[in-house]
Amino acid sequence: MRIDILSAVPDLLKGPFSESIVGRAQKAGVVEVQVHDIRKWSTDKHGKIDDTPFGGGAGMVMAIQPIADAIADLKSQRDYDEVIYLTPDGARLEQATVNQLSLSGNLLMLCGHYKGIDQRIREHLITREISIGDYVLSGGELAAAVLADALVRLIPGAIGDGESALTDSFQDGLLAPPVYTRPAEWQGSKVPEILLGGHHAEIDKWRMEQALERTQRLRPDLLDEA
Ligand code: 6GU
Repeated sequence: MRIDILSAVPDLLKGPFSESIVGRAQKAGVVEVQVHDIRKWSTDKHGKIDDTPFGGGAGMVMAIQPIADAIADLKSQRDYDEVIYLTPDGARLEQATVNQLSLSGNLLMLCGHYKGIDQRIREHLITREISIGDYVLSGGELAAAVLADALVRLIPGAIGDGESALTDSFQDGLLAPPVYTRPAEWQGSKVPEILLGGHHAEIDKWRMEQALERTQRLRPDLLDEA
């Protein structure tokens, strides 16, 4: 998979992609993430990428020219499965969407800033609009990092233990069961006896019961959906 990200603050994305799973997946050649500064395509002599809104009002709007030229330039180099705009008024991101998008070859993500982007970009060039939750971030960069991380961990070869992405919370519609490691007793608090016995069928059953109980208690809405 290749992920191209268009941003007005590309340095914000240096950290998330150089570490951990996404960093390792890039080194392993499983995914390539390229972050681009939208200013690179600005034809303005000062590299301006925003302008005042028609009709007045506070804040600036990201202008069409640099974004449209950036998208056209990248599209001339490869086909994209989706051109995604990260915005608080997009569809709330869920695991099912992540699973679907993880089958893509090339994805282009556009991070919004200021009061957003000119509506005509959204209507003509964007194929999908995604939000990561009902709160407002200063820009789409952190949301793009969240989406890219969720995607990359599903790509075969990105995670050492191939099974573990499938046992994540949400992957079966349930929260994950509790986990423990040594010591078996800490400050009088003991690891559940069943995990120490080595009866794998019993352990699987216990984990399923715990997952159901946790989901019922903490996220009953997930059970209603399933
Ligand atoms: Cl994608 N962008 C911004 N600016 N804020 C958000 C968001 C995205 N998702 C939730 N809040």
